[in-house]
Amino acid sequence: MSNLKAVRGTRDLLPPETALWNRVEATARAVFARYGFGEIRTPIFEDTQLFIRGVGEETDVVSKEMYTWEDRARAQSEKAQSLTLRPENTAGVVRAYIEHKLGDAGMLQKLFYIGPQFRRERPQRGRYRQFWQIGAEVLGPVPSGAESALRDAEVLEMLATLLDELGIPRASEANGNTGWKLALNSVGSSTDRPRYIAALKAALEPVKGTMCADCQRRAETNPLRVLDCKVPEDQETIDNLPKIADFLDEASTEHFAQVRSALDACGVPYVVDPRLVRGLDYYTRTTFEFTSASGLGTQNALLGGGRYDGLSEMLGGPKAPGIGFAIGEDRLILTLQALANPESLLKKRVDIYLAPLGREQNPSVLALAKTLRNVWRPIRGTRGFSVEVGEGDFRLKKSFEFAEKVAPLIGIIGEEERAAQVIKLKQFSTGEQFSLSGAQLIEHLAKDDIALKALGEAFEGGHNSK
Ligand code: HAM
Repeated sequence: MSNLKAVRGTRDLLPPETALWNRVEATARAVFARYGFGEIRTPIFEDTQLFIRGVGEETDVVSKEMYTWEDRARAQSEKAQSLTLRPENTAGVVRAYIEHKLGDAGMLQKLFYIGPQFRRERPQRGRYRQFWQIGAEVLGPVPSGAESALRDAEVLEMLATLLDELGIPRASEANGNTGWKLALNSVGSSTDRPRYIAALKAALEPVKGTMCADCQRRAETNPLRVLDCKVPEDQETIDNLPKIADFLDEASTEHFAQVRSALDACGVPYVVDPRLVRGLDYYTRTTFEFTSASGLGTQNALLGGGRYDGLSEMLGGPKAPGIGFAIGEDRLILTLQALANPESLLKKRVDIYLAPLGREQNPSVLALAKTLRNVWRPIRGTRGFSVEVGEGDFRLKKSFEFAEKVAPLIGIIGEEERAAQVIKLKQFSTGEQFSLSGAQLIEHLAKDDIALKALGEAFEGGHNSK
């Protein structure tokens, strides 16, 4: 066996699990489209300075976790440059916003992305060195309404809708709080935060000696990170530290109140968590995290995000307040897998498995498969059904075993069936057996299309009735 393996912290995603990834991404794309988002694809590597200036030099992500290398010049006209695999996508999106002057039209920009990110963290369940994010950003010049609390609430409501549509329940007593929970906070404006950090540092000074080694270090280097500490003995000390809410100016306090009342109006449940300050430097005002207790263990943050009203200026761009989030797609998949039998989340891979009985049947079965794969489906406006073709040399038992793994339906064609111009079928879910002509089989496979048409007509009818 080869000793070449996927690098630590990276992994291959294989079928059938990739079908679940595709379903998640298709659902996200459909939801984003309904909320008016368009897709942006930025490069996987960027100038290292982008992350130093955007995400912050003192953050764990930038100081410890980046994959950075010196890219040598290949021609005299080129300069050597420090490049970095993107550890997150917000800085790249804002860089693209500035570079393409997306704000010049005065409109709000609503952009989403799906793609791999890279952080050299200690790998464990739900934490990888290459992981996937599904994220979105809403930003624009101030007159576009980018600063409004409505934007924050709309983004959060969209996330609740997406999780609902993916089948992740909201946490409740009925499900033992295993569903999703939204924690919300405001970290204030760029002037509120330094005042708070100074107060935190001062309050930590007399007590840090009693805290864990990590907290003692953080109290010096990055006091906000003390609030993330999970060591049980430190919790009481942390609970007694100053709260950011007491340092917000009037405008930030009012903004946060507006976000909460819009969420209440939309029925999105949340808990205000004064300790939620998040690990990236660009956040201002609203910050949030959705957690899930299903399948994630200690890495229970399903997604995180917040507002970044000063990021564009930090990168040398115009004023462009914004808010966004990134979902850890790997963690979303783990949650879905823990919530349900993964088989039930995955549609069978193909619509029908065709089994020729005897090698002589192979050519005509392949011809039937070709017809099924290419037939026009007028109601959907698409072509074809997905078909897997077996092999005439297989014993019938083997064909059934193979078929059941990949399709809900098997079609058998032997000498007799070919003479009678029929296909013998068995539906695995019900055990039902029947014979159909080729045309009838197409109709049978298209029965969901017909249901779809009926649904459309019923809606139109309801719509037009006076
Ligand atoms: P973040 O909190 O660093 O925020 O990451 C967002 C999500 O990515 C996390 O909640 C987690 O689900 C997932 N994630 C992070 N690191 C890993 C990892 N090593 N392995 C697996 N999943 C991981 C951001 O990245 C911001 N750019 C979000 C944002 C967008 N804020 C505003 N706009």
